[in-house]
Amino acid sequence: MTAREPTLRVTMLPRDTNDRGTIFGGVILSHIDLAGAIAARQQAARNFVTKALRGVEFIAPVYVGDVVSFYTELVREGRTSMTVRVEVEAERFTEPRQKVRVTEAEVVYVAIDGQGRPVSVR
Ligand SMILES: CC(C)(COP(=O)(O)OP(=O)(O)OC[C@H]1O[C@@H](n2cnc3c(N)ncnc32)[C@H](O)[C@@H]1OP(=O)(O)O)[C@@H](O)C(=O)NCCC(=O)NCCS
Repeated sequence: MTAREPTLRVTMLPRDTNDRGTIFGGVILSHIDLAGAIAARQQAARNFVTKALRGVEFIAPVYVGDVVSFYTELVREGRTSMTVRVEVEAERFTEPRQKVRVTEAEVVYVAIDGQGRPVSVR
């Protein structure tokens, strides 16, 4: 069995922290969006915009030095949209082999034309 490959891996830096010193949730959301967009673009060469980001609940905190992995899976392809599930895990700086589930999300991307109107993904 092969281990699944993350679409995106990022080391968290001091610039990513909130005022309490842990990682700001918006930074993780931004990377979820990037990872999901990469997955959508792997399916079709279209200009995608983010339509919806659903179901986010932060389960565990992320700290400076953690390596955060974003795993993606296409869960729905519609006429003009793709829905990608993004799962987020952190490897602690202090315990590199231990993976901690951070959150997951479903992100809906819509393919648009040059005027910003939805177009078929195929
Ligand atoms: C994306 C955009 C062009 C879509 O316009 P729209 O009027 O919703 O278009 P439609 O109603 O034709 O829907 C387009 C697709 O999105 C899906 N969709 C619309 N609203 C949705 C929602 N809330 N959740 C999930 N899917 C949704 C539709 O089902 C359709 O998918 P399908 O063709 O695969 O069935 C428009 O909403 C937009 O420009 N939004 C801003 C995008 C953006 O700038 N994102 C970054 C924010 S900073």
